[in-house]
Amino acid sequence: MAFPSVPGNVVLIGFSGTGKSSVGRRLSARLGWPLIDTDLQIVARFGKSIAAVFATEGEAVFRAAESELVQTACAEKARIISVGGGAPVDPDSRELIREGNLVVQLVAAPETILSRLRSSPNAEERPLLQGDDPLGRIRRLLAARQEAYGIANFVVDTEGRPIEAVADEIAWRARNRQTWQGQE
Ligand code: S3P
Repeated sequence: MAFPSVPGNVVLIGFSGTGKSSVGRRLSARLGWPLIDTDLQIVARFGKSIAAVFATEGEAVFRAAESELVQTACAEKARIISVGGGAPVDPDSRELIREGNLVVQLVAAPETILSRLRSSPNAEERPLLQGDDPLGRIRRLLAARQEAYGIANFVVDTEGRPIEAVADEIAWRARNRQTWQGQE
């Protein structure tokens, strides 16, 4: 089933732990649009976890690969694209994401993000969780990225809601153009 009112792709943006990958999988299954998850593509390309890419290759190599994958993904049509939390910080990627796609930002409270990340399978590897003030780090990064995430056509709160409900809301709003044409 198609999204008649979506121009190109649906791109999910937002901080780690807001559910982009899970919601992306659900949305893809529900609508029959293939999923592109740039984090998974990076794991496949380097043959190691993202934390290991950061540790051995360095963040600059990770970011360069991420930008390239965002560019390739955005050249597609009719895809659900889930990008890493830092992808929209790059101005070129941000422009490609914004241009001709429906952009959805997933959000959750910093405390919820922290508890979701702590219970994620690779929690011990996540640099965000290192040190003695991970909540402060999450808050600071969220504030620093506010403008980057501001490209979204609409924002969906994932707080206390099952993945299915979030995906259903995105599908509904994607079909109802008047609810996402203006930015929120
Ligand atoms: C990052 C978020 C991660 C991953 C990498 C960097 C970030 O993706 O791309 O660890 O800078 O916020 P998720 O948002 O899928 O966790």
